Amino acid sequence: MKPVSLSRFLIEEQRDKAQIRPDLRLLIEVVARACKSISIAVGKGALGGVLGDAGATNIQGEAQKKLDVLSNEILLEANEWGGHLAAIASEEMDDPHPIPHRYPKGEYLLVFDPLDGSSNIDVNVSVGTIFSVLRCPEGVTEPTEAAFLQPGAQQVAAGYCVYGPSTILVLTLGDGVNVFTLDREVGSFVLTRRGVRIPEETSEFAINASNQRHWEAPVQRYVAELTAGKTGPRGRDFNMRWVASMVADVHRILTRGGIFMYPVDAKCRDKGGRLRLLYEANPMALIVEQAGGAATDGHGRLLDRTPRGLHERVPVFLGSRQEVERVTAYHREA
Ligand code: AHG
Ligand code: MN
Ligand code: MN
Repeated sequence: MKPVSLSRFLIEEQRDKAQIRPDLRLLIEVVARACKSISIAVGKGALGGVLGDAGATNIQGEAQKKLDVLSNEILLEANEWGGHLAAIASEEMDDPHPIPHRYPKGEYLLVFDPLDGSSNIDVNVSVGTIFSVLRCPEGVTEPTEAAFLQPGAQQVAAGYCVYGPSTILVLTLGDGVNVFTLDREVGSFVLTRRGVRIPEETSEFAINASNQRHWEAPVQRYVAELTAGKTGPRGRDFNMRWVASMVADVHRILTRGGIFMYPVDAKCRDKGGRLRLLYEANPMALIVEQAGGAATDGHGRLLDRTPRGLHERVPVFLGSRQEVERVTAYHREA
């Protein structure tokens, strides 16, 4: 069979399946094009002068890397003139970015973490981009923060790109999850996995174990049972992996199962958690659910949370359904 490019896939979703509208197709194509540019910049590394700190901090108090800033600019420039967006919000910007008046406005809101896994940039480990698409509320012509504060269940599309040994785009339009691999010579994303399903059972978990002393009781209990292995209550051995780029950790789980956890702990309790609801948790939760997995904040479904702010942080448990349900049950019991 002939390879199916992202463009062809999207046109078929629009024309043959009536699954998406033309402006959403354009939006996805534009984001994918921006991700190609980011992939090129990431790939050049030191030769492109893109490593190291930018010398500024974002609203979350995190030191920005040059690639955080560059990726944000690439995504903004690619998306502001096409007429498909009403506004843009990013992990790296304090406030929503309005579409300049000289361009037409569309009906979608785009939200992104331009460069996920910043701590891995300078050590040549996989990083990525995470994005989410919402509908601009009806009647809103100049979207402010309030327009973005929609439960994740209302996302019309979500995806991420991993800049690893190969560049991979994972996309959901709310009808399953598909994976595209960048053909670098041709410069186009090619469909390489259709209808991804996360195995329900798993023997692999991901958590930053250096925070163990700060974890709450339900997470202590769950991880202690996993690490007890064969002779513990679970009766089998579990393996642990932590890349520290959410995109890479989630991609491994999408490929061979597992559970990813970034719980709230004593270190980040005042902020609500480590990961951001709009830029990280919600898009990943939609992808994981669309692949048959589950995603909670320890208590309830992540996608049901109404965000209280653009940069709100939350605890995250996602991946293979049975494991996510178990650790969530431990929270409820506590
Ligand atoms: P970002 O680089 O966008 O700030 O996100 C980093 C996130 C996420 O990708 C990863 O899972 C987590 O932070 C790693 O946290 P630790 O450094 O605490 O392990
Ligand atoms: Mn991130
Ligand atoms: Mn980031």
